[in-house]
Amino acid sequence: MSTRQVPLYYYSSASGMVRLFAERVCADSGRQALDLGERAVRRSVPDGPWVLITPSYKTGNPDNDTIPEAVRRFLADPVTRRRLAGVIGSGNRNFGRHYQAAARQIAAASGRPMLLEVELQGTRWDVEDARRLLGELDATLAQRVVADPDPAGQRRAGHQDHEGHEPSPDRSSGAHPPAGAAHPG
Ligand SMILES: Cc1cc2nc3c(=O)[nH]c(=O)nc-3n(C[C@H](O)[C@H](O)[C@H](O)COP(=O)(O)O)c2cc1C
Repeated sequence: MSTRQVPLYYYSSASGMVRLFAERVCADSGRQALDLGERAVRRSVPDGPWVLITPSYKTGNPDNDTIPEAVRRFLADPVTRRRLAGVIGSGNRNFGRHYQAAARQIAAASGRPMLLEVELQGTRWDVEDARRLLGELDATLAQRVVADPDPAGQRRAGHQDHEGHEPSPDRSSGAHPPAGAAHPG
């Protein structure tokens, strides 16, 4: 059985930096890059662990700072949040203390790791790093499936599921977007 490749879900604005990076990371690898700008993707629920790539967009409004709306909407679903395995950020250091604010905020709130931070579309070394990290993540998750042949039973018993990312309920709701963003569409 081949190892499942964790899909990349990304949001990218018209400038397309994240799209370029995600497509380069996934090129010729069989890994899926799914665009949260598409309504159907945004309304779907990943069938297993997934990785988010998000830019940061400082809006000037401290209550609604920096996380793109499409990302907020996708994260509104609790199963989607639970299956989030890690976060990759694309930002610009010119934004100083707001550098990577969206990705860091989501990682902190969800308890998931920041896998990588890149500037703009990333360098070719960033692409190589991302491919390696995602490959390692695939392998780790595959081992957990082998080590845990009865994930449903474990879930019933209240332990981690086969995805190995079943945090306590308060952690899983950590990346919950603010009220008003909970209507995927
Ligand atoms: C209006 C605006 C606000 C931005 N705010 C931030 C920010 O707060 N932090 C950061 O690290 N990068 C910030 N950036 C940089 C973008 O996150 C970065 O260029 C990213 O690669 C854009 O990806 P995209 O072209 O796929 O949308 C901002 C860019 C723009 C145009």
